Amino acid sequence: MTFESYLAQTKEAVEAILDRHLPTGETFPPRLHQAMRYSVEAGGKRLRPILCLAVGELLGGEAKVIEPLAAAIELIHTCSLVLDDLPCMDDGIERRGRPSLHLTFDESTALLAGEALLMRAYEIVGQALSESSLKAREAGEVVQLFGSILGSAGMIAGQQVDLQMVRSRLDVKVMEYRHSRKTGSLFHLAVKAPALLCQAPIEALNALEIYAKNLGLAFQIADDLQEKGASAAESGKSSRRQAPTFVDLCGESESKALFAQLVQTAEQSLAVFSGRAKRLAELSRYIGQRVT
Ligand code: IPE
Ligand code: IPE
Ligand code: MG
Ligand code: MG
Repeated sequence: MTFESYLAQTKEAVEAILDRHLPTGETFPPRLHQAMRYSVEAGGKRLRPILCLAVGELLGGEAKVIEPLAAAIELIHTCSLVLDDLPCMDDGIERRGRPSLHLTFDESTALLAGEALLMRAYEIVGQALSESSLKAREAGEVVQLFGSILGSAGMIAGQQVDLQMVRSRLDVKVMEYRHSRKTGSLFHLAVKAPALLCQAPIEALNALEIYAKNLGLAFQIADDLQEKGASAAESGKSSRRQAPTFVDLCGESESKALFAQLVQTAEQSLAVFSGRAKRLAELSRYIGQRVT
């Protein structure tokens, strides 16, 4: 199957998995459940769940455990976007081609829907783990991973640093910290969580970790590069607050060079799989196409 067909088919599969894992819009209280679905069903590239499924496929994971994990990761990503768009954050106007959730519903409902998406994600992960063959200690490690990658030293740390960025005091270390946390964290989780569930050997785990970290940072730099040129109609998103980006700090050509290097390192890390990680290599090249 060509990569294009694989991507289209897997995206469709992700949409169906998400639908199965969300309460219907009629479930009481309907306004909350409709708000949750509004943001999830708006679409998006579904890159993180696709990565999760690709790792599961590479390592022979069972669909009944890997699919819920992929759904949970996309729900967390969607939660992060809903909260990122709130007026006290980036004051987002448009997201995934639709008005931001708080503009279509209201701020309070957006906040609650974001929280509910996050909680639903943990509920799904808990259920998947209880149906897996992992021992209690190993299952505990997966839950711990979610908390540590997303928490105050992970994704949320990146968001805090993002809010504090001042255009006149840009620094490459701070910029990398912010990007690798606010965006890299979910890529890391999307790759490491299925690897832990599949009880991947340590060499595989290490290689996948290098892959995810490089890809996550590359993805955010690509987003920064695109932000320069893309209109809201092209990207499907716009916001009133624009934090300084990698391109503001390093310029376009240096950002592109770093991006290319990160994508290459991600792909090279897959050598331990002797060609079996074809989809992961193709996914990194696909992300690479965003700027080249
Ligand atoms: C948007 O991520 C937020 C960033 C980290 C740049 P995506 O570009 O993957 O958003 P969707 O899921 O496709 O909408
Ligand atoms: C979003 O980063 C990161 C998270 C939601 C954790 P940005 O604020 O840079 O992304 P966009 O431009 O709103 O998609
Ligand atoms: Mg932001
Ligand atoms: Mg934003």
